[in-house]
Amino acid sequence: MRLIISSCVFLLLLHCCHITDIHGQKSDSALTVVEDPEGADGVVSDEEEVTADEDEGVVDVLRPTEEWQTLKPGQAVPAGSHVRLNLQTGQREVRLGEEQLKYWTQEHRETEETRSSFSPEELKRAMKKMKEDLNPESRDSDQQDSVASRFRPLDELKRDMAQLDLQVETDVQIMRRLLDQFNSSNSTTEQKLNVLLELEYLVHQVDNAQSLCSMGGLQLVVEGLNSSDFRLQESSAFVLGSAVSSNPAVQVKAVESGALQTLLTMLATTQPLRVKKKVLFAVASLLRNFPHAQRHFLSRGGLQVLSEMFREDGGGVLRTRIVTMLYDMISEKELISQTGLDPMLDASHEERLRQYSKVPLSGELLEKGWCSLVPQLLESTEHDYREKALRALLAMAPVCLDQYRSDGSLHGSLLSLRDQYQEMAQSEMIVGEENGYYAEIAELINALQVKLRR
Ligand SMILES: *[C@@H]1O[C@H](CO)[C@@H](O)[C@H](O)[C@H]1NC(C)=O
Ligand SMILES: *[C@@H]1O[C@H](CO)[C@@H](O)[C@H](O)[C@H]1NC(C)=O
Ligand SMILES: *[C@@H]1O[C@H](CO)[C@@H](O)[C@H](O)[C@H]1NC(C)=O
Repeated sequence: MRLIISSCVFLLLLHCCHITDIHGQKSDSALTVVEDPEGADGVVSDEEEVTADEDEGVVDVLRPTEEWQTLKPGQAVPAGSHVRLNLQTGQREVRLGEEQLKYWTQEHRETEETRSSFSPEELKRAMKKMKEDLNPESRDSDQQDSVASRFRPLDELKRDMAQLDLQVETDVQIMRRLLDQFNSSNSTTEQKLNVLLELEYLVHQVDNAQSLCSMGGLQLVVEGLNSSDFRLQESSAFVLGSAVSSNPAVQVKAVESGALQTLLTMLATTQPLRVKKKVLFAVASLLRNFPHAQRHFLSRGGLQVLSEMFREDGGGVLRTRIVTMLYDMISEKELISQTGLDPMLDASHEERLRQYSKVPLSGELLEKGWCSLVPQLLESTEHDYREKALRALLAMAPVCLDQYRSDGSLHGSLLSLRDQYQEMAQSEMIVGEENGYYAEIAELINALQVKLRR
């Protein structure tokens, strides 16, 4: 649970509290309290009660930075700071709120730079100013007071006081607010990116992802994929991928909203690598355990598009992700055909078998050249990439065996990798690791070589 509390005592006289964010993780139920909408000006203290005793000396004001800092007892922070309770340590931590980044960096930098506290004189003047504000007759006097002018207008303060009771905003309300902001033509790209970031966090909860659909938000996110700004494309794909992860209802809605076709088009057209990664993530999440989507993916040339991406990717990051995705699809189908052996226990088993039988994965793998593409990933220098390649090669063996056997460079790779990993496995054993990582890779190589023997 992430807990961010922005609490404040206004000018040591009045105080108000705003809890900014309490978000639950997947499976937690979440509460969120309305965000402090202003939060630029004013000295506030973290203490519940602070007396404005004239002789008490200066108030220690912590200067928030972009990093979280621990708040000491009695220290005050400027209003609008993000204050959170660290649940591990029980201590409060502070950093600059967004408004304050502007506050400190623009107008007030010069005057504030040299001090981090306010003298009783200044506070007294500020309080006097406030009393005058409360009294309409003296409104006009002394408007230029240097400290008081930094505090919030009285009307705003009254409004905040009216909200003194914590206002609980549900996740649905938050998402409504976020979607309205995302949908507004007034919002900047930066604001939209922030909205997507917050949505991505929220949709990890199954219920939230489903609410997103019923509120029309999924459509907005899918449209976001078509944005002309690649950062919006990337973040939209991220939200989409997270929303459909392990969430069958949302998977269905996403496919119905045309997400699969849009994602495929994105994969096929040139995109920055970071966009491709997130799009691939969204595709993989959309296809997982969803034979209907897999069938459409294949029939619309998905494996062809992926094979082009594979060929173009020199670094191997995308290659590995693609191969992992293929491996997942193959083993998922394999698993379905093995489980549910008792039809009485699993009534939907027949239906699932029927649906998976309509996914022509093997034929497509063969036809689109994957039997000779996946071995190329073994040329990578990354152990992790090689491991993923070996697992996929084994999973594809029933389809690709003939091609593997006639692939001279695959034989060569396996021989040299076997020597390499056996040696490294020896060193692992010397330092006391019985079933180490290198030994595991050596075994994968071995298993593949056994299959290749006639
Ligand atoms: C956009 O902003 C203007 C003023 O800033 C406001 O009048 C208008 O209602 C806003 N439009 C939307 C869609 O929020
Ligand atoms: C987005 O705004 C349009 C009008 O500008 C509205 O018709 C649509 O319902 C809004 N979508 C969402 C999800 O709020
Ligand atoms: C995205 O744009 C393509 C054409 O550029 C269009 O066919 C597709 O329907 C659009 N998708 C969405 C969700 O707007």
